[in-house]
Amino acid sequence: MTARPGMHTLTAGRGLLFGGDYNPEQWPEEVWPQDAELMRAAGVNLVTVGVFSWARLEPEPDIRDFAWLDRVLDLMHENGVAVDLATPTASPPPWLGHRWPQTLPVDESGHRLWYGARNQFCPSSPVYRERALSIVSALASRYAGHPALALWHVGNEYGQVCHCDESAAAFRAWLRGRHGDLETLNDAWGTTFWSQRYGDWAEIVPPRRAPYTVNPSQRLDWRRFCSDALLEHYRAERDVLREHTPGTPVTTNFMGLFKPVDYWSWAAEEDIVSNDWYPEPGDPLAPARTALTHDLMRGLAGGRPWLLMEQATSAVNWRPHNLPKPPGQFRLESLQALARGADGLCYFQWRASRFGAERFHAAMVPHAGPDTRLHAAVRAHGRELRGLARVAGTPVPARVAMVFDWASWWALEERGRPSDRINATDQLLSYYLPLWERGVSVDVVPPSADLSGYALVVAPNLFLVGDRDAAALTAYARGGGVLVVGPFSGVVDERSHVRTGRFPAPLREVLGASGEEWLPAPDDEPVRCRWAGGAAFTARTWTELVAAEGAEAVAEFADGDLAGHPAVLRHRAGDGVAWYVATMPEAAALGEIAERALVDAGVAGALPRLPPGVEAVRRGDVLFLLNHGAETAAVPLPEPARDLLTGAVADGQVTLAPRDVVALRPGA
Ligand code: GAL
Repeated sequence: MTARPGMHTLTAGRGLLFGGDYNPEQWPEEVWPQDAELMRAAGVNLVTVGVFSWARLEPEPDIRDFAWLDRVLDLMHENGVAVDLATPTASPPPWLGHRWPQTLPVDESGHRLWYGARNQFCPSSPVYRERALSIVSALASRYAGHPALALWHVGNEYGQVCHCDESAAAFRAWLRGRHGDLETLNDAWGTTFWSQRYGDWAEIVPPRRAPYTVNPSQRLDWRRFCSDALLEHYRAERDVLREHTPGTPVTTNFMGLFKPVDYWSWAAEEDIVSNDWYPEPGDPLAPARTALTHDLMRGLAGGRPWLLMEQATSAVNWRPHNLPKPPGQFRLESLQALARGADGLCYFQWRASRFGAERFHAAMVPHAGPDTRLHAAVRAHGRELRGLARVAGTPVPARVAMVFDWASWWALEERGRPSDRINATDQLLSYYLPLWERGVSVDVVPPSADLSGYALVVAPNLFLVGDRDAAALTAYARGGGVLVVGPFSGVVDERSHVRTGRFPAPLREVLGASGEEWLPAPDDEPVRCRWAGGAAFTARTWTELVAAEGAEAVAEFADGDLAGHPAVLRHRAGDGVAWYVATMPEAAALGEIAERALVDAGVAGALPRLPPGVEAVRRGDVLFLLNHGAETAAVPLPEPARDLLTGAVADGQVTLAPRDVVALRPGA
């Protein structure tokens, strides 16, 4: 088997990638050479073209106009800019919905969603599939061999969900594949509850709007189906592209921790993992949330470099109140992605639109033109990335893994659970935060990952866990690993049926502890706890009545009904250690748990001491330090190092102004 093309195919001879979405169809053609000129001056070497160009490429069914796109690709090539060519299928032209209304998506109330915006297609529509593959095939055959073509960008930000009758038929076919016969399906969905038994496949519909809480097992299968149905469409487009251009890598842009689509199954179908990321400027946790997202992308890419496909130079336009980024902020964010494994830093979009729904979205060239402080910063950033080319292709080594699973996320966040205050991504972030603050690199991995290379594995919440994954976690710890498991884990199986017996049933043995009641706490009452040494800490929202069965109680609840019962447990399991956290400790206490687990695992952060707000991460032989704080920070260094960004030598310590970054190589 020949190796698939990947990120290296793009960076070879180009170094780090820098650019953005380029929508020349929104501009008169005389603007294009100016764009090319400006791109050259800014060091742009990759642009994404054609994402929303279906109506321009195919103004009427089978009437196609590629001449303008030929000129765009030629122009880009003449100017040394590679093209990430998009299939235009994220936004079908009005003629598709007008002539074939069955291609338009239907929401869970049965309402059809119309054209006039974008994303209006049913993933399971045969007509949509046929028309999409037809334009994709025309595009691929026309541009196969074009020297500008470097990467394929399939669709855009897949996430569509449709409840129409065609989707219902596809859902039934998918269910037959998963469950085989109706008896098994009835069993899996627990349809003896509320008289939901299905006697005929034809009775089964997507979980449409219903008078009361819909069956959680049905909804879980529906979510699986929706992710798979989109994936099937993505694959169909990708296969057409591969047929025409086997050497050109294929990607589709992800959206971080995006709930509707199981990116673990998707990433396996891509040559390059790419992501769109728009941190919220007012969110104090944005730097850590962003780092976590980047680590997820690296995990999805199997540790290989990934591509930051879209970010914003300043404000977006789709939040109710769009805070701009202060000068230096987009550079800081871009370099953060680089530090965490991205080999390309791209933006939405090159030139700010004059019209349409995104005309107030920041761009690389603002409405005011290139002679602006924002564009000057874009150029400066492009220039400095040239000096960091050596980073391309290098790994971000991590000895800690965090387990995250889409099916568990879906299953957890259904109506009718003990509390809607416990959710998968908040749990993930709360356990990630203390590691990030300590400069500990983390790989985000699926539960089925090979864990043998990690010294510490953290599962902040595995509400749903299959027997095989539970056994693998158990074997990991017993074999010498350190495992940390967060609350409300091991609760249901893959059908979302509660595992009976004391919880978490499949992890009980490795944790040396088990529980019998989940006890959410009132919102306004902190849960008081005590470390074994006597010091107090608080938790909130969630408690469990748990007993040690071989584990030691590292902390216990301090008052109320649970006074004296364990809150945090540590168990010597075989050759390793397993921790169970039976509440939601506040940040400082989670930090304490992280420190102790890191000691158990023998893992240290990138530097022994980091001032608050300073992120430290090693990529290859470069140590990146990024100051997300509002204060100037002095960071002690163990050895002299040279900053690849400025050439300055730092000896003993380095000083970082707010939003400043250094990329240090050891040696003077
Ligand atoms: C992304 C999308 C782009 C643009 C951008 C605005 O979600 O892929 O096309 O809409 O957001 O922030």
